[in-house]
Formats: sequence, structure tokens, C-alpha cells
Amino acid sequence: MRALDFFKDLFNNLLSDLTKTFSRQKSDSVFGLDIGLSSVKVVQLKRRRGRVILETYGELATGPYGGLAVGQAVNLTLDNLKKLVADLFKEANITTKTGVMSIPSRSSLIVDIDLPEVDDDKLASIIPLEARKYIPVAISEVTLDWLRIPSPADIRTANENNPEGQPIKGLTKILLVAIHNDAIKNHQTLAKDLELQVPIMEIESFSSIRSCLHNDLNATALIDLGASSSKMAIIDRGVIRVSHTINKGAQDLSMAVSRSLSVPFEKAEEIKREVGLVEKPENYDNVESAISPLVEYIFAEAEHVVIKYQKENRRVVDKFILIGGGAVLKGLLAIAEQEVGVPVAFGQPFNKTEAPAFLSGVLTEAGPSFAVAIGLALRGLEEI
Ligand SMILES: Nc1ncnc2c1ncn2[C@@H]1O[C@H](COP(=O)(O)OP(=O)(O)OP(=O)(O)O)[C@@H](O)[C@H]1O
Ligand SMILES: [Mg+2]
Repeated sequence: MRALDFFKDLFNNLLSDLTKTFSRQKSDSVFGLDIGLSSVKVVQLKRRRGRVILETYGELATGPYGGLAVGQAVNLTLDNLKKLVADLFKEANITTKTGVMSIPSRSSLIVDIDLPEVDDDKLASIIPLEARKYIPVAISEVTLDWLRIPSPADIRTANENNPEGQPIKGLTKILLVAIHNDAIKNHQTLAKDLELQVPIMEIESFSSIRSCLHNDLNATALIDLGASSSKMAIIDRGVIRVSHTINKGAQDLSMAVSRSLSVPFEKAEEIKREVGLVEKPENYDNVESAISPLVEYIFAEAEHVVIKYQKENRRVVDKFILIGGGAVLKGLLAIAEQEVGVPVAFGQPFNKTEAPAFLSGVLTEAGPSFAVAIGLALRGLEEI
């Protein structure tokens, strides 16, 4: 009996290894799946002679799967999410079963901390203890990761004792990352039930940095205008130094339009997308006045975060990059530039892929929405 079990296991392992090898040979494509609160985005990329080819991409709103409108944020039940992802894979014609999924910023925490200069093994034992000071839930509920912030990004807040903000002897700067285990478990269940292989999951901000930033040593602010919140990161010398959430998002703009024009959310969402901040067609001339205070609020808060960072680190944040579905609001770029006073551009993640030329206009427009999904798939191509 035991011998039988042994051979059964051996056979199963062999089979699974063979399937892995086989599927790996059959297809070198990977998907990037970004599960947002208001819409789920997917892309499929493959590598051909060192170039990254865009094979397909697609997006589905979550609202209709949760009894709400397009554009509304909704935490879908696992069953409804499974249905949505299955529909999306079918509609977008995703053919690979292997890929990378996003972990939302709200299920994670990114902070930089000072720790004694010790070797990696020692660091591994110190970090869970140190992490308790920063993480508001039990350490057993999170998965921890970290990386050493390399010099010269290893700068510190200048103060009376350290007016130059020099690295402090004996201390090393660590970027500490914690992910809520529930978020990982939910994704694992989703992947298993849909028979997908997802060996890597990644916090969304890391993915959009990969897809939208170039090897730039200057400090950049990246803002993801999602449905219920706007997520912001400051990236300096290639390393995330600040991760911040602004509790207003693109959905709030539709809600403001809905109130101001006394129309249902669905209609307000349509009007917002059509009118935005520039055109003022008859009957809709108060759309802009309903939306602009919220947009100004978001960028004023982002600017506060930037000013604090610049002061503490004596670095200049010299540009903003906008991503997320909310970024494509008509007229947003001009208002954003006014608020922050430095150049603002849309993230162009599709530029890191090759696609038929006739798609270029469509992809430029869709770019900000797909920043996370493309970043995930790029990581998949590198590591899976
Ligand atoms: N053309 C458009 N003009 C203005 N707003 C738009 C447009 N297209 C989409 N949006 C807005 O973008 C928002 C969705 O953005 P996105 O897909 O980045 O959010 P999400 O990823 O689902 O949210 P989160 O990242 O917070 O989980 C919606 O609120 C929608 O109203
Ligand atoms: Mg998102």
C-alpha cells in the first residue's frame, strides 16, 4: 500500500513536471491580470527574439457583476470575480494559463526603515520584530519582504544632528513590504479554480513603475487615479521611497456629477467621460464645476506629499506620471500641471511592447489603464 502510494506520488510529480515542461515549450506567452475595484484588466505578452510582443489585451467593468454601474468600485464575491475573469479571458482571447496577478496597494504596506548594518541572515531574523512597529495587524497575518535601498538612494532625513542627511554609519536603509495574507489566499483560490498558474503576485505600484518609468535617476511622482482612491508613489533613483493613498478617486467625480445634475450614477458616469473638464456643452456647463474641486483636492494632496519628500531628502521631484482609468479624464493634464508646477505626462506602458502600427492611437489612449497589467506581464516574461 505504501509502495503504491509512493509510486502514485512519483507518477503524479513526474506528470506535473512533464506538463510544466510541455506547456512551457508550447507557449512562451504570459498574462498580466490587474484586479481593480471598478475594472479588471488583462494583457498577454510574449517574447520573440528579445522583443516584447503585445498579443492581446482587454478590460471588463466589475460593476455589472456586482449589481452596480460601470465605473463604480465593488468588492466582488469570489464566485462573481471568477465569472468575470473567465469572461474576460474569453473575450480578450487569452490563450496562456500562466501569468502574474496584482496585489492591491490597500492590502499592502511599504515603508522604509533604518536597521543595523548586518548580514542578510541576521536581517531576516530582525525584520519580523521591527515590522511590528509599523504594521497595524498581527505579523502572522502578513507576508513580509524587503530589500536594501542601495547607496546613493540611501539618504536620510536631514536634521540638526545630521544636517547633510548623510548615510549613518552602522545603519542600513531597508524598504519593508508587507502583504495581507488574505489577499494572497484569495488570489490563490481564484487561480486554482480557474486552472491558472500564477507563480508570482506583485503589489500594483511595483508593476506600474516597471511599465511606465524609464531608467531615470531623478525623482518622479507616479499617481494612479483608480476608482475609489488615488495611489501615489515617489520613485527616486529607481527605488520607491514613498507610498501614499489619497482617499478620493475617479468614482467620486461621477458621484459629484450625479448630485450636481440630479442624474443617476450611470448617466453621471457617461457625462463625466464625455464632458470632463474641458468642453461645456449646453445643459452640462456645471459638470466642470462639480468635478474640478475634487481634482484639485487630489493634486493638492499629492503636491503636499512631494513637498515633504523634497524637504526631507533635499531632492527635486521633477515630473509627475499619471496612470489609472481616471487619468484619461478630458482636460485633466492641464489642471494637474497647474497644481503641481512641473511637467505631467500620461504613463505609456504599451511603449514597452511591440504592436501593429494601426493600434498606436488606441493604445496611447488605453495606456494609463493598463499600466499595472503590462508591468505584471513584463515581470512574468522576466521570471516565469
Ligand atoms: N474616459 C474616461 N474619462 C474619465 N474617467 C474615466 C474614463 N474611463 C474610465 N474612467 C474612470 O476610471 C475609473 C477606473 O479606473 P481604474 O480602472 O484605474 O480603476 P480600478 O483599477 O478599478 O480601481 P482601483 O485601482 O482603485 O482598484 C472609473 O471610476 C472610471 O469612471
Ligand atoms: Mg487600479
